[in-house]
Amino acid sequence: MNVFQKYAFYYDALYADKNYQEEIDYIQKLIQKYSKNLCNNILDLGCGTGKHAALLAKKGYKIKGIDLSKQMINLAQKNFKHKNLSFMSGDIRDFKFNQNFDVVLSLFHVISYLTTDKDLTKVFTNVAKHLNKYGIFIFDCWYGPAVLDNKPEIRIKRLQKNNFKLTRIAEPKTYRDKNIVDVNYQIFIKNIKKNFIEDFEEKHVMRYLFNNEIQKFLSDNGFKLIVAEEWLSGKKPNEKTWSVTFVCEKI
Ligand SMILES: C[S@@+](CC[C@H](N)C(=O)[O-])C[C@H]1O[C@@H](n2cnc3c(N)ncnc32)[C@H](O)[C@@H]1O
Repeated sequence: MNVFQKYAFYYDALYADKNYQEEIDYIQKLIQKYSKNLCNNILDLGCGTGKHAALLAKKGYKIKGIDLSKQMINLAQKNFKHKNLSFMSGDIRDFKFNQNFDVVLSLFHVISYLTTDKDLTKVFTNVAKHLNKYGIFIFDCWYGPAVLDNKPEIRIKRLQKNNFKLTRIAEPKTYRDKNIVDVNYQIFIKNIKKNFIEDFEEKHVMRYLFNNEIQKFLSDNGFKLIVAEEWLSGKKPNEKTWSVTFVCEKI
């Protein structure tokens, strides 16, 4: 997968409006509500630039973050240093640790980056291997009913930082036979001081998932679903709910 390379350097600027503190308060409430085990150790799959993990470390959890993109991991390691925190590059389909965790997280659509049943099975199998009994797996993904109801559209995002102006065009193409959306990003960065424009492209291939598919991945790998709810609001998911949180227990 050739993504989150150049894109990594603009990732935090692109998502500056994302409220990581609110998200981690929400995740902590889910852990407190649903974890039968006292939660000490957390694994963050697809941790990106490490913002969720850093906030959890601050709250006293011991946390490891893993991400396929070396560029994202380098940024996480550079930006966040804490005794409870470590980051490493690796693939969530086949990572291996000599320890188990009380909670595994995978936040902000990381699971949707796994686009085949084979890859999704690898992840669920691997998560089960690394969880303690009654450990919980919390992830969110693109929710099939909403993607089909609100067709992905072309979107443009513009932002300005001290030394650059960025425009990102996102052009989606949906493949209903595979439950996949190719999001073709075109990014233009104007360096304000040096007055030149750089541009690059990245294609993010995203899988949207339906309840019955998720139930199957869970039951095949020794999990039970505790709750599926709208990301952050906790409302019951419907055909308008683009992002759904799944809380699952290893049985
Ligand atoms: C939208 S970002 C989310 C990052 C972070 N969780 C956040 O909330 O800011 C998706 C991340 O998933 C990572 N990713 C995608 N597929 C992966 C895989 N197979 N193994 C590890 N990381 C993966 C990407 O490199 C990227 O950092």
